[in-house]
Amino acid sequence: MATTPFEDQRPGTSGLRKRVRVFEQPNYVENFVQSIFDCLDGVDGQTLIVGGDGRYYNDVVVQKVIRMAAANGFGRVVCAKDGLMSTPGVSQAIREYSALGGIVLSASHNPGGPEGDFGIKYNIGNGGPAPERLTEAIFARSTAIDSYHTMASDDVDLSRPGDTEVGPMALSIVDPVAAYSALMEKLFDFDAITDLLAGGFLMRFDAMHAVTGPYGRHIFEKLLGAPAGTVINGQPKPDFGGEAPDPNPVHAKHLVDLAMSADSPDFLAASDGDGDRNMILGRGIIVAPSDSLAVLAANAHLAPGYAQGISGIARSMPTSAAADKVAQKLGVDLYEVPTGWKYFCNLLDAEKITICGEESAGTGSDHVREKDGLWAILMWLNILAARRKGVAEIMTDHWAKFGRNYYSRHDYEGVEAAGAAALMGSLRDRLSSLPGSVYGGQIIQSADDFAYVDPIDGSKAEKQGIRLIFADGARIILRLSGTGTVGATVRLYMDRYEPPEGDLGQDTQVALAGLKAIAEEVAGIRSHLGRDAPDVIT
Ligand code: G1P
Ligand code: ZN
Repeated sequence: MATTPFEDQRPGTSGLRKRVRVFEQPNYVENFVQSIFDCLDGVDGQTLIVGGDGRYYNDVVVQKVIRMAAANGFGRVVCAKDGLMSTPGVSQAIREYSALGGIVLSASHNPGGPEGDFGIKYNIGNGGPAPERLTEAIFARSTAIDSYHTMASDDVDLSRPGDTEVGPMALSIVDPVAAYSALMEKLFDFDAITDLLAGGFLMRFDAMHAVTGPYGRHIFEKLLGAPAGTVINGQPKPDFGGEAPDPNPVHAKHLVDLAMSADSPDFLAASDGDGDRNMILGRGIIVAPSDSLAVLAANAHLAPGYAQGISGIARSMPTSAAADKVAQKLGVDLYEVPTGWKYFCNLLDAEKITICGEESAGTGSDHVREKDGLWAILMWLNILAARRKGVAEIMTDHWAKFGRNYYSRHDYEGVEAAGAAALMGSLRDRLSSLPGSVYGGQIIQSADDFAYVDPIDGSKAEKQGIRLIFADGARIILRLSGTGTVGATVRLYMDRYEPPEGDLGQDTQVALAGLKAIAEEVAGIRSHLGRDAPDVIT
């Protein structure tokens, strides 16, 4: 079919993410999907995985992708039942079916529904997000595209697993929950977790009306024997029940309130829209994602899949340095990469690392090439079952051994792009003059715009965020979000280490108040953004 390019189909940190209304324009989806196919090295006879988080428009786009894959010469599409598959599930399927790649339909934690967001992301044969050279090629292709291939065929009934055909192409409709659960049973001690739950240990899992509901019910309530009702908001809905499926203290406030109440279960957890992120809470405690990464790394050997130990740990640059302390103690390498899961994948492929994570509540391992919310939750359960201690006690023990990184992220969402650019630009211009200057009694030791050279393939990523590092190791980081869909989002990250003998029981925001004042003084956040306070604090 003849077509013409759209203005901007440049994929961001996690694929092409825009308002549903943008995706609904005639040919919009087709242009982008064809641009992906055109940039792959020969799709003839190859297998493609397709699945999404079930948000509004998922059902329509799944059918478009199937028709286009058939018309482009793919040999087989493996599609999730009802088109619903978590992002880590797609990654797993790509690997297990030796597929050329997979298409994930998701805008992750962004709101859904007709007025919400939609997204399309391509993952390559190792199961991981497309590297930048591929996303750039896809973008370039999208600016030149003049036709796409599709075929006239009825929508396929995706409600029953089984094999069928679409034109010359084979189509397998699969139950994603069964395959994923089988992988989890290999990695974790399901017997020990079953025992823990049978002994009166109470847990709650909030699927936030998104894709992990069916997975959660099967794994927690059926396989592990937790009582019915353990999974809440377990029915996937196209608009996520009108809420953003974002497991943070704002959007999952009910979970935080429950954890802080007298009726708190022992363990509470949530996952986001597409199931790649997690939130971990215990009675009276929210576990900071950066701390969670450190705890999982320090205790991984307690899970059968990691009993041999881990080869290394990686974290994104703005993630707190808590994991660094664990790597040091374990005597394994620690890698610091830019924000975005794709940067972990070469390290995982090369077996340099086993576990990795981001401050944004994405944690994962070498079992797939995406972050994995349920994996992190099961790893926590495995650790709780092995150590027979509560979440708060595990954290206190951890800090007593490794020290504590007080850490927080302040998000200024939907601000004017010009103000955000001015804030970052002004900092960049002053970078070389900042080292040696004193703010709030603290000496800035180094200031840079984080640049990364991939140790495996030598590819470079520049301008990944402004870093101010102080003489005592504390850090202030400022970067622009790559996933927002309205205006610009500025993220301010603060990280300060307190050694084991220090005061480990402070309130995080109080502990970071000094750094926050310095950030304001150095960057002029209020004046550039016209905001008195961040929209979200995590
Ligand atoms: C955000 C998170 C980042 C994550 C990405 C995709 O990106 O901060 O850690 O990899 O979503 O889930 P950002 O909006 O900061 O660019
Ligand atoms: Zn997500």
